[in-house]
Parts: sequence; C-alpha cells; structure tokens
Amino acid sequence: MELYTPEALITEDEIALRIHALGNAITKDFDAEDLVVICVLKGAFMFCSDLIKKINRPLSLEFISLSSYGDATQSSGSVRLEMDITADIEGKNVLIVEDIVDSGLTIKTLMELLSVRKPKTVKLASLLFKPSKLKHKVSIDYLGFEIEDKFVIGYGLDYAGRYRELPYIGILNAGN
Ligand code: IMP
Ligand code: MG
Repeated sequence: MELYTPEALITEDEIALRIHALGNAITKDFDAEDLVVICVLKGAFMFCSDLIKKINRPLSLEFISLSSYGDATQSSGSVRLEMDITADIEGKNVLIVEDIVDSGLTIKTLMELLSVRKPKTVKLASLLFKPSKLKHKVSIDYLGFEIEDKFVIGYGLDYAGRYRELPYIGILNAGN
C-alpha cells in the first residue's frame, strides 16, 4: 500500500489546545450576546466543528462557500460565491470561521459581502495565517497559528480536493 503520511507541521494535540483557548476567549467576548457563526466551506469545516464545541454561548451556525483556488496552490485572484448563508444577519453578531488567511482576498471579499447586510458586529476566527503572502488589510480577531509560506494540507485544508480528512496540519510536498 502507498504511504500516506504527510509531514506534520501542527499536531492534533497542538490544534486541540489552541482551539480550547480560542473557544474560551470567544465565550468571554460574547458574554450575554447571541452569535451567528459562519463556517467558510469547505476548508474550515473541521476547525469550525471543533471550535463551536468550545464556545459556551447560545449560537446559530451558517455555512458559506467561497472558492478562489481551483486546483492550484496559488490564488486565482478572484473569489466566487458558491453557496450563500440562509439566515438574515441584520443586527446580529457574526463570527466568521475560516481555515487560512493567505493573500487575504477571500476574507476581504466576504467581509464586503456581509457588511452590506448590516450585521451588528463582524469578527474573524482563522485557524492559520501566512503573513508573508498578505496583500489585503485583514485583521484576525481569533488566530490559531501563524505559519511560514508553505502550502499546508489536512484538518480541513486540501490540495486539489485531497487530504481534508487528516487530523493534523501537514506540509504538502512532492512525495505525497
Ligand atoms: P486568500 O484569499 O489568498 O487569503 O486564500 C484563502 C483561501 O485559500 C483559504 O480559505 C484556503 O481555502 C486557500 N489556501 C490558502 N493557502 C492554503 C494552503 O496553504 N493550503 C490549503 N489551502 C490554502
Ligand atoms: Mg477557505
């Protein structure tokens, strides 16, 4: 059988610990406030699933699907809305949950798209951030890990649709 163990950059235990801390911070910040969590598909599905289990507040969950990459490891430079949320977010506290901020284009586009719907507040939780690639002004309220400029996979993140199921964050290299 073919070996299927991409090199780990961030382990399952490290992810779990960090998410616990982020969940605690979010719980505190939204004290006595309702919250609409928007999970950005597909990459953030695993992070969002684990994160909301650590948020001890009433919340509702929405999904949105944006696509910017196709099958490449470089941003295509345009973002397409593939699936929208179903809830009305006017006057609501929104927490966007994203897998990774790279150039920042996806998040910038999403923030613009949501702001015209007049939410009360919009905050961003991102599991990963690659500061070296940032082209747009993005501020991450709840960040998991800052990483160097390597293409990562696993824990929801894919390369050409593969590796999302890995329980840890790995580095994509030619051998995989
Ligand atoms: P941005 O629009 O350039 O910030 O890219 C954000 C999106 O690109 C993320 O939501 C991911 O889906 C994808 N992406 C960026 N870097 C990586 C990576 O290293 N691995 C997997 N997906 C990535
Ligand atoms: Mg994404």
